[in-house]
Amino acid sequence: MSKDKNEWGSNMSFILAMIGSAVGLGNIWRYPYVLYSNGGGAFYIPYIVAILIMGIPFLILEYGVGYNFKSSFSKALTKISSKWEYLGWLLPVAVFMIMIYYSAILGWDGIYIFMSFFKGWGADPNAYFTSTLLHASDSYTGLASFVPLIAVSMIVGWVIIWFISHRDLEKGLGRVSKVLVPALFIIMVIIVGFSLTLPGASVGLAELFHPNWSLLTDFGIWMAAFGQIVFSLSLGMSIAFTYASYTKDDADLVTNTISIALANSLFENFAALGVFSILGYMSLQSGIPVADIVTQGTGLVFIVYPTVFNVLGQWAYVLGPLFFFTVYLAGLTSILSTIEPLSFSIQNKFGLTRKRTMTILIIVGAICSMIYATSYGSNVLGYVDTFINQIALLLGVVLECIIFAWVFKAEKLIDFMNARSKTIKLGKWWLVIVKYILPIFITVVWIGGIIDVVNSATFDQLVFTIIIAAILLIATLIFTLLPAKSSDWNETEERV
Ligand code: PFF
Repeated sequence: MSKDKNEWGSNMSFILAMIGSAVGLGNIWRYPYVLYSNGGGAFYIPYIVAILIMGIPFLILEYGVGYNFKSSFSKALTKISSKWEYLGWLLPVAVFMIMIYYSAILGWDGIYIFMSFFKGWGADPNAYFTSTLLHASDSYTGLASFVPLIAVSMIVGWVIIWFISHRDLEKGLGRVSKVLVPALFIIMVIIVGFSLTLPGASVGLAELFHPNWSLLTDFGIWMAAFGQIVFSLSLGMSIAFTYASYTKDDADLVTNTISIALANSLFENFAALGVFSILGYMSLQSGIPVADIVTQGTGLVFIVYPTVFNVLGQWAYVLGPLFFFTVYLAGLTSILSTIEPLSFSIQNKFGLTRKRTMTILIIVGAICSMIYATSYGSNVLGYVDTFINQIALLLGVVLECIIFAWVFKAEKLIDFMNARSKTIKLGKWWLVIVKYILPIFITVVWIGGIIDVVNSATFDQLVFTIIIAAILLIATLIFTLLPAKSSDWNETEERV
C-alpha cells in the first residue's frame, strides 16, 4: 500500500474536507432548534464556552496525536498500548454505523430534491412523508415490508460515495471537497439571503434570538451546548484523527482547528437565520405561532419545509430544489468522512488497498442500510442515532481524551505544535483543559444522556438498543481478534 494514496495534496484539501465533515445535517436541522429551545440569544454563552473549552482544545489534541502517528486510529491506539486496540476499532466501527443510517437520510433527501420541482408531496406533507414515502409502521413487523423507492435512492447515494471514496484520497475526497464545500456555503448564502426578505422573517428571528437569560442557570442548556459541539464538530469520532494523519509534514494544526471551528459555527448560525426567517413567514401566513411550528430533524426538513414551500407560490420551485440540494451536499460531504477511519484502519491491519477496502465497505454498508428501506426503518434509525450519539460516541470521546492526554501525554505535542502555529500558542491552559476539565465535563454530559435515554425509551427502543450495542461490540471484537496481515502493523513512525 503506497502512502501517497492516503495523503492530502494540500493543506486546503485537508481544511475543506474537515469542514465538509463538520458541516452536515447537524448544522441545518439540529442546531437551529437547539439554539431556539435552549434560551435563544442566551444560548450563545454556553455555546461559545463549549467551543472555547472543548471544541478547539479537543480538536487540537485529536489532530496532534493523529498527525504524530501518520497512521490509522486503530493502529495508533495499538501502538500506544496493545490493550487499547479494542477502543481503536470501536470508534471507527461506531462511525461506520453512523454512515449506514446517514445514507438513509440522504436517500430520503434525494427523493425530495426530485419532488421539489413539482411539489410532489401534495397538500399534506406529513401524510406524504410518513405514509406515502416511508410506509412507516410502528410495529417491528414492518421490518418485513420493503420500500423499493427508498432502496433505489439509497443505492444511488452509495454509488456516488463509491465513486468518490475508492479513488486515492486527493483525487477523490480532496478534489470533491474543494468544489462541494465552497458550493455548499454559496448556496446557503443564497437561500438565507432570500429567506431574510420574506414577510414575517423578522418575527421568526425575534422569536429565535429573544434571550431567556434565566435559563443560564439551568444545567440542561449547558449540556445541550456541549452535546451540540461534539456532534457538530465531529469531535472524538476518530475522523479528525484520521484526517490529520493524512497530512504532509509541517501543517499548522492549531490554526487549522480555529478555521474549522469558525467555519462550522458560521454555517450553523447562518442556517438558523434561514430556518427561522422561513418559520416566521409560515407563522405569518398561517396565524400559527412560531413556537408551534418549530421542530427539528426529519420533521423540520421533510415536513415543515415542504409545508412552507406549499404556501410560497412560484418561488418554491427555485427555493425548494436549492434547499434539498443543500441538505444533500451537506450530508454527502459529512458521510464521506464517516468511512475514512474504518477504511484506513482495515488497510493498515490487513494490508488491503484503499480501493479494495472502500469497495468492500461500501457493499457491506449498502446491504446493511437496506434495513432502513423497510417500513420500520425510520424507527430503527432513531434508535441507532440515539444510541450512537448519546451513548457510544460520548464514551469514546471521554476515553480518547484520557488516553491521548494522559497515556500518550499531551505535553509531548506542545513544542511541536507551537513551532508551527502562526496564531495561538498552546500552554498550561491547554493541558489543564484536556487533562481535567474535558474528561469531567464530557462524563457529566454522557451520564446526562444515558439518564435521558433510559427515562424516555420505549420497550422496543430498549430491545433494539441492546441489539445495536451487541452488533457494535461484536464487530469491534472481530476486527480486534483477527490476526494482522500487514507486516508493518506493529511498526509506526512518529513525527513528534
Ligand atoms: N458533524 C456532522 C453534522 O454536524 O451534521 C455530523 C457527523 C458527521 C456526525 C460525521 C458524525 C460523523 F461521524
